[in-house]
Amino acid sequence: MTDDLVPEELRKAYTDKEILAIEKKHLVPAVGHYYEDPILFVKGKGAVLEDSAGKEYIDLFAGICTTITGYSHPKFVATIKWQAEQLVYTSSLYSTIPYALLIKKLAEIAPAGLTQSYIVNSGSEANEHALFMARKYKQNPYVVACHHAYHGRTTLAREITTAGWRTVPEAHPPGVRFAPNGYCYRCQFGKEFPECDFECARYLREIIRTETNRAIAAFIAEPIQGVGGIVQPPSDYFKIVHEIVKDFDGLFISDEVQTGFGRTGEKWWGIEHSGVEPDVVTMAKGFGSGIPIGGFMTRPEIAEDYTMTDSFATFGGNPLSCAAALAVIEIIEESNYVERATRNGGHFKKELEALKEDHRLIGDVRGQGMMLGIELVRDRTTKEPASEEMVKLMELCKEDGLLIGKGGFDGNVIRLQPPLELTTEQIDKACEIIDKSLAEIEKSI
Ligand SMILES: Cc1ncc(COP(=O)(O)O)c(C=O)c1O
Repeated sequence: MTDDLVPEELRKAYTDKEILAIEKKHLVPAVGHYYEDPILFVKGKGAVLEDSAGKEYIDLFAGICTTITGYSHPKFVATIKWQAEQLVYTSSLYSTIPYALLIKKLAEIAPAGLTQSYIVNSGSEANEHALFMARKYKQNPYVVACHHAYHGRTTLAREITTAGWRTVPEAHPPGVRFAPNGYCYRCQFGKEFPECDFECARYLREIIRTETNRAIAAFIAEPIQGVGGIVQPPSDYFKIVHEIVKDFDGLFISDEVQTGFGRTGEKWWGIEHSGVEPDVVTMAKGFGSGIPIGGFMTRPEIAEDYTMTDSFATFGGNPLSCAAALAVIEIIEESNYVERATRNGGHFKKELEALKEDHRLIGDVRGQGMMLGIELVRDRTTKEPASEEMVKLMELCKEDGLLIGKGGFDGNVIRLQPPLELTTEQIDKACEIIDKSLAEIEKSI
C-alpha cells in the first residue's frame, strides 16, 4: 500500500495549538485531557511517546493501562496491516478465522475451567454483558461490587462504580449492593492488618444477609483496583470473600480489565495470586494493546443459556480486533512479559520504597508487578490527601519527559501502569524524575 492513498489531511504535520482549536470547537467536554497544556502525541516506540514538537516522554501510564506491548511493536503493526488487507469486518453472523483462533487461545491461558468466551468492544460492555449473564443464570437481581471500584460507564457498569463521578441525582438501581474493598492504608473499620482478621472481607456476609434475599447473582471486583488508586487488598481477602459468595450461591466475577494479561507478574490474571478460581473473567484495555476489544470468559454451564436473544454486539469479535489481540497474546508469550513484569516490577517497587524514605509526601507505596501506586499525603499522621501536589507532580514530570497516571478517590495516587516493554533503564530514569519533582514540591510546602 502506498502512503498517498491515505487521506492527505491525515498525513500533514499539525501543532498542538491547531488540534486543540479544533477540539475546542467541536468536542463535548466529556473528553477531557491531562495537563494544563495538553500534549499532542504523534508517534510512539516501545515505552516512549513523541509529541508534535519532537519531544520524547517515558510513558508510565500506557494510555490508561492499555498499550501493554508498547508503541509500534513490529508484530502488532504487521498483524493489523495484514488482517486489514484480508478482511476487516463481516459481523459475528458469520464465522471468521481470527475470532475462532482468539477464543481458542484464550481458553489456553484462562483460569481453570473458563473455556467459553464472548468478545465485545470495551471493558464497560464486557462487565455489562457478564452481569446480565450472571443475573439470568442465577435468576437473581443482586450484584455486589466493592467500594472505590471502577467498572465502566455504561448503565450497570456505572452503577457499580464507586470511585467517584456520581453526577446524576438518582439512587442506585435496585439490586446493587456494595462491600468494603480491603483498603488497608485507610481501613474503613479503623483497624490494622493482620489484627483486623479481615473484617472488611467478612463484612460481605452481613451485607448479603441483611440487604439481599440471602442469595446473589454475582460479586464483582478488580483484583487490584486501578482507578480507585492501586488498592490491593491483603492476601486472603479474596479467598474469604469467595467463600462467602459461594455460601450465598453467587458467581465470582474478576474484572481483569487492568490486571489481566500478565500485568501483575507471575500469572496471566490478577485473581490467580489469591488462589481463587473465578466463574467469570472480564477483560479489555491490554487485551488489544490499544485496538478496541473487550470480552469475558466463563464456564460452559454458565454460558449455556446465554443466547442470541440475550446479546449481540455489531463490532464484537471483528476480525481486525481479534487478530490484533491474538498478536498481543503471542507477543506477551514470546517476550516473556509475565516474567518481566515480576522482575521489573519488583525492581521498580523497591526503588519507589526507597523514595518513600526521602519524601514526606509519600504515604504509601503499593501494588504488584507493573501495577504500582504511590499515595501522596500532606501529613503521614492525618493522611490528608495531597491532591493539589499530585497535579503539580504530574506537570513537573511532564516537563522532564515523564508521563504518570492519577487515581484514587481524592486524585492523590500516582498510578504506574506502563507498557510491559518498559526497560529497567527507563524505570531508573523515571524514578530520578519523580524524586526530583517531589523534592521541588516539598520545598514549597
Ligand atoms: C477495572 C475496569 N473495568 C472496566 C473498565 C471500563 O473499560 P472501558 O473504558 O473500556 O469501557 C475500566 C476502565 O478504566 C476499568 O479500569
